[in-house]
Amino acid sequence: MSGDAKIPAEAAALAAEAVRHLWWLRDAGVREVPLAAAPRPAGAAVVAVAKAAPPPPALSENGCGSEELLAIRAGLGDCTRCKLHGGRTRLVFGVGNPSAELMFVGEGPGADEDLQGEPFVGRAGQLLTKMIEAMGFARSEVYIANVVKCRPPGNRDPEPDEIAACEPFLKAQIAAIRPRVVVALGRFAVQTLLRDATPIGKQRGRWRAYEGVRLMPTFHPAYLLRNPAEKKPAWEDLQLVMKEFGKTAPGRES
Ligand code: URA
Repeated sequence: MSGDAKIPAEAAALAAEAVRHLWWLRDAGVREVPLAAAPRPAGAAVVAVAKAAPPPPALSENGCGSEELLAIRAGLGDCTRCKLHGGRTRLVFGVGNPSAELMFVGEGPGADEDLQGEPFVGRAGQLLTKMIEAMGFARSEVYIANVVKCRPPGNRDPEPDEIAACEPFLKAQIAAIRPRVVVALGRFAVQTLLRDATPIGKQRGRWRAYEGVRLMPTFHPAYLLRNPAEKKPAWEDLQLVMKEFGKTAPGRES
């Protein structure tokens, strides 16, 4: 390859890096950045972050709705701590109310989440939203995050080194939000948070404690889509959570 051919490749890599950085800034709620760090004369050019990607969500919508969460997101940066970074479109930090009393933790982003940058927006997400609403909450009232923040290729299971790299950020999110209850969805959320390798079928439906927060293990919505018969026990688990909040299922008087 000639020296000339190398220049466009380097330029493309730089451009890709710049766009990734702009995406990260957008996810952190930044709307525009000056072109130069030096004092900017009136009318100097400004790069609109929104031009590199769709308009940034409001802070409360991109999962960084408090100073603490924003600091955690900033700490993650344009993360390259594990090999998942190479295949992601967008890092999926979390979504919802930064002061939520109820938090859901899943496994990791799938294809839809990777594209949209928001957890649980695909088929499993639609079921999770129905579960949340059936519990008497709005999706916007709760907080939703995952064990790993980047999509495992082909939706494979996250690997131990990937979980280990990402877990401190989930831990920090839970500490910042301080929910009354965490619902751990599926094997990876339950086993990661509880350090307990017991199969999920044996752990579900029993109150546990995670760093002083009540934790309810239950089945993952994607598992429920594949095994609809398990929706009944999962609903029983969620009713235990509802009871904790003084809520009853619609149509049932307490
Ligand atoms: N499954 C998960 O565990 N998390 C998501 O965000 C989507 C699907």
